[in-house]
This record gives sequence, C-alpha cells and structure tokens, in this order.
Amino acid sequence: MPGRPMPAVDRAPLVSRFLQLRERSRRLFDLLTPDAYYIRPIALRHPIVFYEGHLAAFSFNTVVKRALGQPGIDAHLEQLFARGIDPEDVHAPAASKERSGWPSREQVRAFVDEADRRVLEALSTGPIEQPGHPLLDRAQAVHAILEHEAMHQETMLYMWHQLAHEQKRPPAGAAIKIGGPPPPQESIAVPEGRTTLGARRGEIPFGWDNEFEAVDVEVPAFVIDRHNVTNAALLEFVEEGGYHDPQWWTPEAYAWLRAERMEHPRFWISDEGRWWWRGMFQRVALPEAWPVYVSHSEASAYARWRGGRLPTEAEYCRAAYGTPAGVERPYPWGDDPPDAARGHFDFAGWDPHPVGEHPAGRSAWGIDDLVGNGWEWTSTVFAPLPGFTPLASYPEYSADFFDGRHYVMRGASCATSRDLVRRSFRNWFRPLYPHVYAAFRCVSDRAA
Ligand code: AVJ
Ligand code: FE
Repeated sequence: MPGRPMPAVDRAPLVSRFLQLRERSRRLFDLLTPDAYYIRPIALRHPIVFYEGHLAAFSFNTVVKRALGQPGIDAHLEQLFARGIDPEDVHAPAASKERSGWPSREQVRAFVDEADRRVLEALSTGPIEQPGHPLLDRAQAVHAILEHEAMHQETMLYMWHQLAHEQKRPPAGAAIKIGGPPPPQESIAVPEGRTTLGARRGEIPFGWDNEFEAVDVEVPAFVIDRHNVTNAALLEFVEEGGYHDPQWWTPEAYAWLRAERMEHPRFWISDEGRWWWRGMFQRVALPEAWPVYVSHSEASAYARWRGGRLPTEAEYCRAAYGTPAGVERPYPWGDDPPDAARGHFDFAGWDPHPVGEHPAGRSAWGIDDLVGNGWEWTSTVFAPLPGFTPLASYPEYSADFFDGRHYVMRGASCATSRDLVRRSFRNWFRPLYPHVYAAFRCVSDRAA
C-alpha cells in the first residue's frame, strides 16, 4: 500500500527496546573472562574492546550527533569506535594486535555510560520523529541504531564462538540439543511462479536501504532440499576428498583452502581420527543432524559435487514465502509473528538444533527451517534493488558492499533477533568468510 500514512511513532517501545538491547549486550560481554578483552577472535576483525565501544558510539553518533545535531562527548573515542565491519581484504595484515592503542576498559565504560545516558535522554524526550526530516522521518535513525545493535549481537556471538572455551563463562542452562541421526533428505518441487524481492516504502515501519524498492520477479520451476545440508551429509564430501579436488571449487576458493589449510568446515575439529563440533561453550562429538555452518565457497563446492547449486535469492523467497495458491505470506509459516515454535532464532540457544525440529515453521511447500537454525546462502551477488537510495542515517551501510564480491544470505540463525526476522531483510558476506552461522541447501532445475 504505497504512501499509506503510518501512525505517529510511539516512543515507549523504542525506549524499552533500547534498554533491552543494552542489557543483552552487557550479558554477552559478561560471557567472557576479563583477559579476553583485547583479543581478536577473528584475525581480520577488531579486538573485543572495539565492539563494546562501537555499539554505544554508533548509537550516539547517529542519533544524538548526526540526527539531532547535539555536541559530542569525546571526539577521539567517537571516531575510534565509529565503524568496523567486514574487513577489506583477507590478506591484509591485521592492524596492531597489541593492547596498546586501545583505551582501558574503565575508559571505554565511562564513555559508554555517558553515550548511553545521552541516547536514552534523546529517546525519552528528544524530537526523534520529524516528518520530512531525512534522518528522523518515522524515527528512521532510532530504528537504525536498534537494528544495528541487534545485528552486532550476532557478530559478537560468532566472534565469541572462536575463542577458547577457557575464555568463556557458560551461563546457567546453556543446554545443547544433539539429536539422533538426521531425517532423510527430500527434494521438494516448487512450480514456476512470481515472488517479491524487497519491500515498498511505507509498507514496513523501518527497513535498511537494500530492502527497497519492491520488485516482482518470475521464478522458473525448481527443486529444493527440504532440509539444510547436515554435518553428516557434508562429512561424505570431506571423506571423498572434496576439499582436495579443485574441480568443485573456484580457483580463488581452492587457493584459499590451501593457504588457510582448510580441510573441513571451520566449526569442525579433527582430533585423532574423530570429528568434533566447536560449540560455543563445549566441544561435542560431531552432531550428525545439525545443519553444517560453512562459507559460501564451501556451500557452492558441496552443491556442485552433489550435482546441484545454491538457490538464487528469488528461489529462496519463493520457497519461503510463496504458496501453491499464489499468495505470498510474510513468514514461511504464514502471518503470525515470529515466536520460539516457528524456528531456532532470537537467541534461543548458542548452537544449532537438529534439522527439522520446528514443524510449526515449515513453509507452504513443506520446506523446513528456512528462517532460523542458520542463515541460508544464496548464489545471488549482493546488489541494490531498483530504486535503491542510501539510508540517510547510515549511507555506507550497504553501498560500500555493492562490489560484486559479497553474496546474499537470507533467513536467520539462533543468534538473530526476532526484530530482524522479516521478508525483506538481507544479509551478505564475502565467499571466503567461514565464521558466520550460515547454513545452506541445494537446488536443481528439475527433479533428479
Ligand atoms: C549486514 C551483518 C554484513 O556485520 O558487517 C554492522 C552489519 N554494518 N555494522 C556486518 C553491520 C555495520 C553487517 N552485516
Ligand atoms: Fe557496526
């Protein structure tokens, strides 16, 4: 419904979401032992200290300084913590690994507390909604900071995942659900039909720039896996020498495997002839029925080996939101808002669940786990939809990554906030980035 006027923004839910997000971030930092603070769990990303400063600085810079034009707190820290995403070049030398150059935790916390106080004041009493204002129309900048923090909670969790278990303090009730043997894989035929990519402006309270405008596309018939590819399925590829056979890989990916000594997915550990999963808080014997988390390159190689390919973004959308009757629905399961029965997302756990555990989240075609239990890789290069304009409150958010070197991921993982579970939400990473909670399934053009 283009142009339909939306009700005025209600600030109370924005304030409580902000407070809840800050509280969850604090709990995530509390999962770590103090000695982890200056470590870089992923060599090419900043050390942990950066993220504590970044969450507060980004919110403060965006809402208080840029949108409302108020004065700053500490120009140096606001700049130091302003940005830090998906690193440029896999071969770039990591900047200083030393503690030097980063402020003490006390300094960071003092800055964070003051920034939080000023943001909270703005959300509680400031003019955060101004119709026609580039950054504050429908409180755009506020939605941007809330979703930014939610996204980084996932970034932090997949970083924490790479730390040694001794550097983490498991919270009470951090249970793990191994499951038995995987259910048999099935191929599900989806007939030719239309799907909508993106959203219409005004149709949703907030969306990132890469979600607009909506475009209808025709999707030819395809056949898709009912379940995500499991650890057990990927193990066959590993055991058949897939990681040492260049025919399944692009030359760049194959060179990367050798340079990084990648013999198997990053989440696996091979120890004295046995396979293990690197869980968030413990190592467990490789759970056969869990979706395998892999980079885009590994997912593509496996799909090629199996005689299939990754779905396009349009195929993912048709599989997730299309129906035999032709209507599109907001979620794979229909119209109801996301909740724990529909899928493994919204911080419901620290590691995956077995595939197929959420029948209440199944799509109209009978496809499982399209939202939750791991993002889903697609073969679509991240690019703007027609009508793209950079988001006024964060113009670099997507535009810096329209370089042909990032692929679209859809869905959600166990560490994805339910606030990010919407049909138009798009995520993206480089093909050689193996740390994300990303799963996949295979498609082919016809029934095999
Ligand atoms: C959309 C998840 C790819 O983490 O690099 C956070 C999100 N952008 N701060 C990233 C983001 C700026 C981004 N992803
Ligand atoms: Fe960020």
